[in-house]
Order: sequence, then structure tokens, then C-alpha cells
Amino acid sequence: MPNDNCGDGAKPVLIFPGGMPHSLDYLQKCLRAGLPVIGASSLNYDVASREYPAWLHLPYINQAGFDDALRRGIEDFDIGGIYSPNPVVWNYLSRALPGIAPGVKLVNDSPVNEVLAGYRAARVRARLLLERPLPLASRLKVRPAMAEIELAALFHHANQIPGMCDLEKIDALHEIARCGVSGDIVEIGSWWGKSAFVLARLARYYEIGNLLCVDPWSNEHLVQHEGEGMVDSGSAQVDAEEALAVFEMNLLPYSSNHVNYLRMPSTDGARYYREHRDVATASFGSTSYRGDIAILHVDGNHGYAAARADISSWSGFVIAGGWIVIDDYVWPFGDGPRRAGNEFLADNRSGIAVAFVAGSALFIQMA
Ligand SMILES: C[S@@+](CC[C@H](N)C(=O)[O-])C[C@H]1O[C@@H](n2cnc3c(N)ncnc32)[C@H](O)[C@@H]1O
Repeated sequence: MPNDNCGDGAKPVLIFPGGMPHSLDYLQKCLRAGLPVIGASSLNYDVASREYPAWLHLPYINQAGFDDALRRGIEDFDIGGIYSPNPVVWNYLSRALPGIAPGVKLVNDSPVNEVLAGYRAARVRARLLLERPLPLASRLKVRPAMAEIELAALFHHANQIPGMCDLEKIDALHEIARCGVSGDIVEIGSWWGKSAFVLARLARYYEIGNLLCVDPWSNEHLVQHEGEGMVDSGSAQVDAEEALAVFEMNLLPYSSNHVNYLRMPSTDGARYYREHRDVATASFGSTSYRGDIAILHVDGNHGYAAARADISSWSGFVIAGGWIVIDDYVWPFGDGPRRAGNEFLADNRSGIAVAFVAGSALFIQMA
């Protein structure tokens, strides 16, 4: 990322070697931020040179003359910092740069650290959750938690999928998956499949049941009339057809015939679910469902009427000990999920065993 380390922003950053994918990403970020950059490599002709506003040829770092050529380049172009995603080059420069050009610094962390940062963060998150599990007030027996490495994998892979499922919610989903009954898992609103991935993995690990994702994947259904149009203008920039393809790409590797979807609004999906036990799609094949829901995740359209319709058409399938999760119960752009969730709590007081808010979602366990 271009940051304060890019010198003072007035001096150019040298990107070396300039043709690596991370280098080209970094180049684009610098160009967008209006920061001056120069590319360099040791190839006689590097196609990447065409992408850069200026270019420098350098010997390989293990060739005599590299240090002198770099020193000359730094002086000629008045270079303020160097970005290198290559671990060998980065290591060499971290040792040699103070002698070659005192004051010129590497602007990025070690590429090895950068590659491993996500894995390390996921392991820390997993350890913390295992050390401090959520103390659920449920009467049901809690299943032993997955091993730390399994939980770290869950966090890490979820992090690879773009979408709207915060870490606190993943923590809580993991905990309720351990403390519930078996049955289908139904998600209303899956989009690119971030929370669906988490549910698919938990379904398999804790042997809960099969996952059904219900989403029309249509731009028309993205309109929420909430947040003074801010949410809708953001949604207008995404393509629902592409979103379904992204969902399939994200979920297919994790489906062992236990994931499928209905491409329709949730109310139509509820009618289909009442009348059929099987769902078939070209990408996921055929999946059988029980018709009883162990976990219902409501994350569809957040307008009040839509959130209310989602809950009323699906909550009747949730069995005793099953969970209803209402996403964005805490939401800065509107109060649809909160109002619909509160109404459900008020109308079903005697049928509810546990209710709490984690992250931005409301979690309810049926008695
Ligand atoms: C907030 S996104 C879901 C985010 C997703 N759960 C994640 O983890 O990133 C909302 C989704 O609800 C879907 N949606 C909108 N109206 C719907 C409806 N009537 N029934 C089911 N899904 C709906 C949208 O297509 C969109 O995919």
C-alpha cells in the first residue's frame, strides 16, 4: 500500500522487480494516489516497463555492479524509497541499502511477513476464541470445539471471501453451531457467499445438516430504500449475475454435496421449501433437505417489510433448540432488521430460550 513510508510523496518510489503481480498492484495504487514511481528489473527487456512512467535497468542483485547501479539510479531519479515484493531482493536490500544509499528505506514489510500475516491473524483469532468461548446460557449440551488449526482455517478461508460477515459474527456462529440441534441450515441472502462459506464449513464439521442458500441474485432485489439512498447507490455498482458466479466459485470447493441454492426471493423460497425435499442446480447437483431448520440466517433485503417477511415466512420451520440469526440488527443505515427482530422477540417470548447480540447480529435460540 502506498503509505507514509513512500518518502514524503514528492520523491519517487522505485518498484523492483517491477513485473511481479504485487509490484503491478502497488504501481496502480501509487498512480491512483498521484505518487511518482519508477519501475526497475534486471531483464534485458521487461514487458512490464510499458506500464511505468519511468524505467531503470539494474543488474541482478548477485552481479558485480548492482550496488553501484542502484546508487546511480537513486541519485539520478532522486528516489525516496524502494518497494520490493521479492523476498530475496527485499532481504538483500534490507541489509545493503543503508550502505548504498543511507536514508533511502524499503517502504514495505518483509514479503514473507506480508504473505503470512493473514494466516497468523487467523491463528490468533482461533486461539482467543478457544481460550474464551462465548458463555451461552443454553440448556443444550455444547459439543467440543474444533481443533485450533481447524478454527484458524475457518477464519482464514472466510477472510479470502469478500462480503459482509464480521469476525464477531463468525465467533458467535461457531459457538451456536456447537450448541444446537441437527437439521437444515438456511441462509436468506448470500451474495458472494462469505457467511455461506462459514455456515457450510460449520455444517460439515459439527454434522448439523445441509445448507440451503436462498437469494434472487437480482439487482432489482438489492434496492432497500434505506440509509438515504447510500446503500442503494452502492448496490447499483454491482452485478447480480456476476455475484452468483462468485458465490459458486467460493462455495463449490467446500461443498461435499451438502450445499445448494434457490435463486428466488425468500418468500417464494419458503413456499418451495415447504413443498419439496430436494434442490437441484447445474453447479451443485442435487441436495436433499429435511424440512426442519437448525439454523436460519436472515441476511436478505434490510428494508423493514422485507426483513419481516423473511422472518415470518421461515421462522416456523425452525425447530426447538434451533437458532435464528438476524443480521444487521445493529445497522447504521436503517432499522428494518431491528424492528422486525424486536417484533419477533415480543411475539414469541415464551418460545425463546436464549437471545443475545454479537457483532451486529441478533441470535435467538428457540426453546
Ligand atoms: C447483505 S447481502 C448478503 C451478504 C452475505 N450474507 C455475506 O456474508 O456477505 C444481502 C443479500 O440479500 C439478497 N436479497 C435481497 N432481497 C432478497 C429476498 N427477497 N430474498 C432473499 N434474498 C434477498 C441480495 O440479493 C443480497 O445478496
